[in-house]
Amino acid sequence: MTPDPLDAQHFHVLVKPTEISFTAVEGETLMGAAIRAGIRWPSVCGGYAQCGVCQVELMPGKAATPPSRQEAEMLGRTTSTIRFDGILRLACQLPVTSDIVVFKLGVRAPKATPEPG
Ligand code: FES
Repeated sequence: MTPDPLDAQHFHVLVKPTEISFTAVEGETLMGAAIRAGIRWPSVCGGYAQCGVCQVELMPGKAATPPSRQEAEMLGRTTSTIRFDGILRLACQLPVTSDIVVFKLGVRAPKATPEPG
């Protein structure tokens, strides 16, 4: 069920090393929130937990819901390494439930709209 953006809490997401930040609605997936904000988030399967390309390192000290069986299976097939003592998660499956900091290469900010005139 899609959270009602008017009733839900909003959380701050910071992506390292680019320092891109955006807001996620409580329960929205990390990748879904990024896409809604116009951010390019690496993906091949489009958010179905089938490619592992969206994988992020969730920085330590932040609560997270446990991965589903499907997410855990995909994480078990990836070869990414933990760099900052965090935990690996799929951005397309991770519901945002607090302010978070993640490490992810390849995330790109929206292109600036050219000024008219
Ligand atoms: S986008 Fe493919 S596993 Fe998340």
